This record gives sequence, structure tokens and C-alpha cells, in this order.
Amino acid sequence: MTSRLVVLISGYGSNLQAILDACAADELPASVVAVISNNADAYGLVRAYEAGVKAIHFQKLESESRRDYDARLAEDILTYAPNYIVLAGWMRILTSAFLDHFPNRVINLHPALPGVFPGTHAIDRAFEAYQKGQIRHTGVMVHLVPDDGVDDGPVLATEIVPIHPNDTLESLEGRVHETEHILLVNTLKSLLQK
Ligand code: GAR
Repeated sequence: MTSRLVVLISGYGSNLQAILDACAADELPASVVAVISNNADAYGLVRAYEAGVKAIHFQKLESESRRDYDARLAEDILTYAPNYIVLAGWMRILTSAFLDHFPNRVINLHPALPGVFPGTHAIDRAFEAYQKGQIRHTGVMVHLVPDDGVDDGPVLATEIVPIHPNDTLESLEGRVHETEHILLVNTLKSLLQK
């Protein structure tokens, strides 16, 4: 059976691309039924459009509270009847006004290991911590989103990413993103096969 995925993004969308490619190659038994961004300029919207997938900029109204936005977003997403909602670089915290509609069905990707470097700029912070001798490696995780905790929730998969003495921030970023693309697709694959 083909599962329906809605992917939420805020930016470049390289992880969205990994999902789109895996669906197109029949590596994932799924189809992306909508891509939604809170940011009008997200390049991921172009990727969705080019893949023939509905691409939506879902803008927060000035008059709207965070919970009102989340409730309106959930209502919109419900019309796509998704099996899972994948946060692939979605940089907004979702409240229960959204999450209560999709228990155990919202999946987040984060470029760090559980409990370390939650929030934004996780790779930069890991690189800095490595240079200070505080860590020897970083990693990537995929987890369920039960509540509005930041990059926190039941872990579905993790992968360690080594940091080398001659790494630059750019080389580390490249390695983390490559790892993410593989881990996200593989985790979705095992989830969808259950
Ligand atoms: C990815 O590294 C993802 O893990 C991260 O945003 C990047 C999006 O890249 N997400 C977070 O930091 C969530 N806290 P992409 O737009 O190229 O997929």
C-alpha cells in the first residue's frame, strides 16, 4: 500500500528531495501529497513544484496566535489525509493545537543526537564543541513529535557522524546532510513497512 506523506519545510529542502527521489524510485512505498512551507522563499517549494507535488506557502497572519496558526495548518493538512507528516527542516515549534490531530504521526529530523544541541544551528554548535574538545562526534536523529518540546520525543533512529581534525564547518555540514538523507529515507521505509 502506498502511504501518503505531507512534508513540512522551511528552507532548502535537500531532505525533501531525498524523500521525493526515494518515492520516485519506488524505494519508499509512499507518495508526497503536499509540501508546505512557512517561508515563501523556501527553495524546497521549487523542488516540490518541479516534482509535480502541490507546493504551499502557509503564511502566519499577523493577527493570528501561534495556536490559531497551528489549528488552521492542521485543518489544511487533514484535507490531504496523510499517513505521516514529516518535518524536514521545518523550523517552527508545533503546539498541541496541531499535534493533537496527528498522534504518533509527526516525524522530525534533527542534525544532532538525542538531547544534544536541540534547536537551530545544531551543526555549528557541534563543530564548536568539537573544537573545544567537548565532543568527539555528532550525529543525526529521527524522532516522533509528541509535544512542543524542541527536537525531543521518542527516537526512531540515530546515526553517529564522525568529526575529523581537518574538518571545516562546510565539510562537516556536508557529511551530516548526507547522513540525514539516508537515515530519513531508511527510517520512513521501516516505519511504512510495519
Ligand atoms: C536539516 O539539517 C534538518 O535536520 C534541520 O534543518 C536542515 C534542513 O535542511 N532541522 C532542524 O534543525 C530542526 N531543528 P534541508 O532544508 O536541506 O532539508
